[in-house]
Amino acid sequence: MLAISRPGRCLVLTFVTVLLFGCGTLPEATHESPEGSKAMNEFLVIAHRGASGYLPEHTLEAVAMAHAMGADYIEQDVLLTRDDRLIVLHDLYLDAVTDVAERFPGRQRADGRHYAIDFTLEEIRTLRVHDRVKADGRPAFPGRFPEDSRIFSVPTLEEEIELIQGLNRSTGRVAGLYIEPKSPAWHAGAGKDLMAAVLGLLARFGLADAEDKVLLQSFDSDALRYAREDLQCRLRMVQLIGENSWDESPTDFDLLRSAEGLAEVAEYAQGIGPWLPQVVDINNIDTSDISDMVNHAHQLGLFVHAYTLRADQLPRGVGSMANAVRILVDRAGLDGVFTDHPDQVIAQLPARELP
Ligand code: G3P
Ligand code: CA
Repeated sequence: MLAISRPGRCLVLTFVTVLLFGCGTLPEATHESPEGSKAMNEFLVIAHRGASGYLPEHTLEAVAMAHAMGADYIEQDVLLTRDDRLIVLHDLYLDAVTDVAERFPGRQRADGRHYAIDFTLEEIRTLRVHDRVKADGRPAFPGRFPEDSRIFSVPTLEEEIELIQGLNRSTGRVAGLYIEPKSPAWHAGAGKDLMAAVLGLLARFGLADAEDKVLLQSFDSDALRYAREDLQCRLRMVQLIGENSWDESPTDFDLLRSAEGLAEVAEYAQGIGPWLPQVVDINNIDTSDISDMVNHAHQLGLFVHAYTLRADQLPRGVGSMANAVRILVDRAGLDGVFTDHPDQVIAQLPARELP
């Protein structure tokens, strides 16, 4: 077995957005046939943190909107509270999407942040969720839902599952769960088994088998192996792939995305989730083609769902969502994409039934 884990790293995400890449321009996409290609028909649309382009991320409202838009899967990033309740939140800390600093002065750690794991669910319930802001308080995505809104709250994973299962029944259209237990190694350092807690809750909802419309994703290869081998998890799994420079997890992503690394991934996972610039050369978008990583993954039977496509942050030169989707499906060879704007991706795909 290859050593695709690195020594422990701290948790600082330093995303370089695709906006920073220069690139040429493309002509507008034209659909070859009304039915679309097989790849277009089977392309999966994953609502990234719900319909987060329109409503504050991970709120129940964003989940309901993503479901109504026809997303195939709806994503949940999941953390544990001090009293071991599973909540749906992206960052380990609450500052970027809630009024925690205002509500709980003095509860921050040395880095100035208020970590969800230091608060009970009852305390977190008192917070108001708003659209994501940067450290200086300015909106991370200008033009989205007003960041001074005070009408949303942090949901539990249990509530999101109940909402999605309820909508699946009432609409007759089944959307899946795409769950990422966040930073399992960091939780382990705090004495909490996040993966076991997530799988335990899913089992209580009857979600435990490969046939269930649930995908378990993680950047941490050890955590996925632990779930598969020690916790006997039968759900389908997705190995997320980042850059080592992000210090996202102990996993060595340079090794992992090689042919040898992917062969090891195929021992425990059914798919991979790379960062979009890892599969499309944004600098040479007019000549880019299916990357070695996608080809190797497909040869191993792994599907490829990349992250994250945003209508309000399309790479310069791509021009339109139509072009972006054409590139991702026909040129990059992807099987699905995480997007903040599921409706706009779906609009470029062959017609699908909506509730
Ligand atoms: O999980 C896929 C994608 O969401 C990974 O990035 O940071 O948004 O969780 P992040
Ligand atoms: Ca995620």
